[in-house]
Amino acid sequence: MSGFAAALIRWQKAHGRHGLPWQGGRDPYAVWLSEIMLQQTQVSSVIPYYQRFLASFPDIATLAAASQDEVLAHWSGLGYYSRARNLHQAARQVMERHGGVFPAEFEQILALPGIGRSTAAAISAFAFGMRRAILDGNVKRVLARYFAVAGYPGEKSIEALLWLRAEELLPHVGIETYTQALMDLGATVCTRGKPACDSCPVNADCQARQQGLQAVLPYTRPRKALPERETTMLLLLREGEIFLEKRPPAGIWGGMWSFPEIAREEDPQQACLASFGFETETLKPLPHVQHTFTHFRLHILPQPLTVSALQLRACLAGGMWLSVDDALGAAIPAPVRQLLLLCRKGDAEKPAD
Ligand code: ADE
Repeated sequence: MSGFAAALIRWQKAHGRHGLPWQGGRDPYAVWLSEIMLQQTQVSSVIPYYQRFLASFPDIATLAAASQDEVLAHWSGLGYYSRARNLHQAARQVMERHGGVFPAEFEQILALPGIGRSTAAAISAFAFGMRRAILDGNVKRVLARYFAVAGYPGEKSIEALLWLRAEELLPHVGIETYTQALMDLGATVCTRGKPACDSCPVNADCQARQQGLQAVLPYTRPRKALPERETTMLLLLREGEIFLEKRPPAGIWGGMWSFPEIAREEDPQQACLASFGFETETLKPLPHVQHTFTHFRLHILPQPLTVSALQLRACLAGGMWLSVDDALGAAIPAPVRQLLLLCRKGDAEKPAD
């Protein structure tokens, strides 16, 4: 076994993370769910979501039979909602193509929606004890430092080199502990800022450390300024209820519930009249909310409006009127949750100046 793998396995047993809710079992469904939730999301954020999700959807058949709305509601606030849509779709594929049994073969795991090479490898290692290399963002950082790989790991050639290194290091025994060790080292010791090199089990051979390059490796993405976008969200209020509409199935927040939107330059009252056919009164706008996606930053201008008394019965296609508490339980993205919480406090119902 490589000295690297041996040192990591020893370190994981003494200093790695143990007792996480998804550890200790080999149910491929539970492992798969945890690996999807943990993509780009910290362990502490994932734990409550993971437990609620498994309690509601304890197996693949239950998940496959659920509606997309129920599944998204369980993901609400965790972000990157395509993960939930893919998970749901994959559960249906497992039912149809694999007789309801999660496949044990790497290529079949990789073929499921939402599962890339590193996630397929993590599932293979944790659920089936298969000797496969992982390479998520944290592991790229560990290896880029250990081998002093200069270059941005998002670039194909650098990534290919890191995959080679990841495969060369794999131990022939103890793959689960080794895989967990790599994840734990990246998350707790070989962190992006201020790595704890003194606590690192492989510090003696780390090329970045020898050359004093921990702070500059791995290279970061050549930064382009994130494009900025703006939208006005209409918070339609009627007698203790608020209006939510379902977003189109694909794209940003696909299939989730949100507020109707208009362009900043549009007049909210006129837009309501034109789109919904009813009169409204504008209230005081709420403070702006900012939300950063991978490819742009969205500035949300929230505009509350009351629906005039005569039109209280208005029923809008593609949407629903809900109490604010019920709306908070729906499949909503984080900024919508933030705005609903302001509504619950009464902040949305101040008259316009
Ligand atoms: N990140 C991705 N998978 C993980 C796991 N199984 N444990 C901790 N962090 C992780």
